[in-house]
Amino acid sequence: MKGVILAGGLGTRLYPLTKVTNKHLLPVYNKPMVFYPIQTLVRAGITDIMVVTGGPHCGHFLSILKNGQELGIKHLEYAYQENEGGIAEALSLARDFVDRDSCAVILGDNTTDYELSSDTANFTEGAMVFLKEVPDPERFGVPVFDQDNPELIAEIIEKPQNPPNNFAVIGLYIYDNQVFNFIDEIKPSNRGELEITDVNNHYAKARKLRFKKMEGFWRDAGTFDTLLEANNFWAKRKER
Ligand code: DAU
Repeated sequence: MKGVILAGGLGTRLYPLTKVTNKHLLPVYNKPMVFYPIQTLVRAGITDIMVVTGGPHCGHFLSILKNGQELGIKHLEYAYQENEGGIAEALSLARDFVDRDSCAVILGDNTTDYELSSDTANFTEGAMVFLKEVPDPERFGVPVFDQDNPELIAEIIEKPQNPPNNFAVIGLYIYDNQVFNFIDEIKPSNRGELEITDVNNHYAKARKLRFKKMEGFWRDAGTFDTLLEANNFWAKRKER
């Protein structure tokens, strides 16, 4: 299985911090943010990784990640996303890299201590998303559970005004090779982006979207408050 980290976009929610570097290189306690999703993949034995990035500071990744060896990566590739065309557009840039394989995809601002290895080892086909109960589900993709099959999600609603439950679909996904065909089928959303939720809903329609309610810590560190929470969590974890 290949690993893909999506670290494009301009990080405007974190202006002015992201005027001088890429959001995913901001510090989360003692490491740049992007180290955390990379380590999640490497801990699961995924060492063939592509980082998709963009924006004015994308060159900064090279000086800190280099060829990835210090992080346990065996093979590191980079792709450049020209515009902020959405998460699914960023993923489409990894098509040749993933080739005929399956892939674990993590958003570069998501940090978690979750151990992914059994999910990747047991993965066969379709797609798998991970859920976490949150106080503010309207900020995320929210699942609608399948009435007939308790293992499946029937649909994901992106940032719903009236969420049907308190679960967030976090920025960690496992896909079979079909994902690139589904990306070809979706159209830009109202905010002009190719949405990963639309890709996931193609899997849901095909009754191939499974889920896992995850244990442990997870934050999308893309706002000032969640960036602080992520910093505090990893600082405390270090103390222990
Ligand atoms: O964090 C989980 C949430 O992430 C999910 O619950 C949502 O379903 C999903 O749409 C996404 O929502 P956000 O609004 O938080 O996504 P955001 O635009 O902040 O992008 C998250 C990361 O994705 C960002 O840190 C880098 C990557 N990205 C994003 C865009 C828009 C790219 O690589 N390229 C892009 O064009």
